[in-house]
Amino acid sequence: MSVSPAVSSSASSASASSASVDFSAPGSSAPTQSELLDFARRAAADAELVASLPLDPEGRTWVRLAGPGGSEAWLIGWPPGTGTGWHDHADSVGAFVTASGELREYSLAARLPTDGWKTLELTDGVDRERRLPSGKGRSFGRHHVHEVLNESAEEHAISVHAYYPPLPRIRRYSRTGRVLRLDHVERPEDWQ
Ligand SMILES: [Fe+2]
Repeated sequence: MSVSPAVSSSASSASASSASVDFSAPGSSAPTQSELLDFARRAAADAELVASLPLDPEGRTWVRLAGPGGSEAWLIGWPPGTGTGWHDHADSVGAFVTASGELREYSLAARLPTDGWKTLELTDGVDRERRLPSGKGRSFGRHHVHEVLNESAEEHAISVHAYYPPLPRIRRYSRTGRVLRLDHVERPEDWQ
């Protein structure tokens, strides 16, 4: 999920509508970050697809898409003031593109140890921030740590996300100043 839809607080049950949407390239093997980003860009530019997403002022909504090469892909709606909280995507790479409105990403330019810790004190200079207005996006590698927010007071944001391999788990963190705490690990069965 960036976000991941898995960490949302509110769901639509619109997965069936993804059946007719297939931007995947035939015969492709494991998709690269740039292929995931390209997919997300094309899906985000599909006005009909974007308009098909149900929006809920109370919480995020999502529709599953057919991502390229067996990837996991989602169209996500973000009401004003919503966000993901800090998380990573374990061993998955991914990409996301804003289709309407604007998202902001806060991320860490640091490779965190994957196991064996509960809290970490971050050093200065690892924080990154990106403004992602409509049409802008990014890809990311394994263990990318970020949070994604719609900081607008009025406007919904809509975005397209793709991950490969399909998210096996997400680590959720809380953060106080420089201290990052691993809260829990979510697995697919927690996301249903
Ligand atoms: Fe994410």
